Amino acid sequence: MEKVFDALIDSFIENKIGISEFFLSKKLSTELSANLHTHFKHGNLTLAGTGTKAKINNSDLVRGDKIYWLDQSHDNKSENVFLGMMDAMVIYLNRTCYTGITDYEFHYTLYEIGTYYKKHIDQFTTNDRRKYSVIVYLNEDWQTEDGGELSLKINHQTVKINPTAGKCVFFKSNEIEHEVLVTHKNRLSITGWLKV
Ligand code: OGA
Ligand code: MN
Repeated sequence: MEKVFDALIDSFIENKIGISEFFLSKKLSTELSANLHTHFKHGNLTLAGTGTKAKINNSDLVRGDKIYWLDQSHDNKSENVFLGMMDAMVIYLNRTCYTGITDYEFHYTLYEIGTYYKKHIDQFTTNDRRKYSVIVYLNEDWQTEDGGELSLKINHQTVKINPTAGKCVFFKSNEIEHEVLVTHKNRLSITGWLKV
């Protein structure tokens, strides 16, 4: 696992955006995608709110994604494998980068066709515990024309990332302005934050 973490951290240090193409195995990505579909089918997903999140725009419709929080108590095998990976990543980050992370939170995310998430940063205006954003994608056979890119601004340059299965993206929650472009296919991911 440490090799995968190193790749993510190295690209984060170099470019402010850590990217690891094959962070999840195909098996784990497929299982998590199946979990998300099941929760969707059972009506467990709820429309995400913006809460006290720092808003950069004034439009009413900021985001259209639906979410469901991961929890050890679900006793779901692949969900717990994923959370175990996050435990290991936190230990590794704290040991090698002195990040001082003490907690995390993750949710499944589904963007249905035609939805998006406008420009924002991931830190709340009233609470700065979210230090690092982590997103993993669960979309097999994603094509460029399916849209749904994660678009990030770094040093006035725009970087666009396709949400392909197994990929992980990692960046500082209070620094990086980003948006999810309109998706033309249902777009599945797990999104979360490493907290102090
Ligand atoms: C978020 C977010 C990006 C993505 O949920 O805050 O910016 O690519 N997600 O799903
Ligand atoms: Mn975000």
